[in-house]
Amino acid sequence: MRCANSLYGKDILDISALTLADIELIFQTAGIMKRRLKQKIKKSSYLKGKAIINLFCEPSTRTRTSFELAGKYLGADVINFTTSASSLLKGESFRDTLLTLQSMHCDAVVLRHPVEGAAQFAARTLTPVVINAGDGAHAHPTQALLDLFTLREKGLKLSGLKMVIVGDILHSRVARSNIALWKKYGADIHVCGPATLLARDIESLGVTVHERIEDALEGAAVINVLRIQLERQQKGMFPSAREYAQLFEMNEQRLKLARPDAVIIHPGPINRGLEIAWQTAYGNQTAILQQVENGVAVRMALLALTLNGDLDENFD
Ligand code: CP
Repeated sequence: MRCANSLYGKDILDISALTLADIELIFQTAGIMKRRLKQKIKKSSYLKGKAIINLFCEPSTRTRTSFELAGKYLGADVINFTTSASSLLKGESFRDTLLTLQSMHCDAVVLRHPVEGAAQFAARTLTPVVINAGDGAHAHPTQALLDLFTLREKGLKLSGLKMVIVGDILHSRVARSNIALWKKYGADIHVCGPATLLARDIESLGVTVHERIEDALEGAAVINVLRIQLERQQKGMFPSAREYAQLFEMNEQRLKLARPDAVIIHPGPINRGLEIAWQTAYGNQTAILQQVENGVAVRMALLALTLNGDLDENFD
């Protein structure tokens, strides 16, 4: 007889709430999903009869589309909610919006929101499963999971590995979630960026901080280039684009400072010529499109595990 997996019915709000066993189960399931995606018929019925609402209160291409495809490939019905076409614009509160959607018998809400803690609030308010698709600068757990899944595919083991995060750390939910996940596996984490774009508490996360990208890159195995979040910059926090590119842009010359087999990851969307050079963005050492591909498989795994109580590690 099958027993419910450890993630069944759980909200996915941040990395800290996941055990190593949970994470390994997600990766194992994502591997199965990825094989399924390569088959002629991608669609399955693991989530037949389930309804998922993609509640996106901020723009997104990768996360929203991959969650939509993930749900549909698993046989669920998926509704995309966008703020600009909703009654939020008529003054309906976020809480009332959540309760309204819950009344329609959805099984999961995938939430992206500009405010830190919005996913926790939604989880406290709602009975359906809540998956955090990015809340302000707080967390983007599904991005961290797909990033690590991609690095694993490249054969990397994180224990003791020098991993560098470069750029706009202050506004980056990706940086926070990746640091939390990489710490669980014992990585040696270094961060680098303009002093105005380093979070004040960053050292308390157990990372080494560098002012010069050249120092950070020395011997690095993984380079996580972050997007400069131009839409979140407050006056005076960001040097000019030209100065930023001069001091911190990831380019071919700087890449030579890292390990010869170093892997560059970037959550996207990319600002070419600002945080990453044109030719480096899709060069041999980047995994950007592999990350996007794996986003579908990892999100399929998360939806399947949280919404299907019959799934266990042997369901393939
Ligand atoms: N990485 C990421 O979250 O991209 P989107 O904003 O396009 O979803």
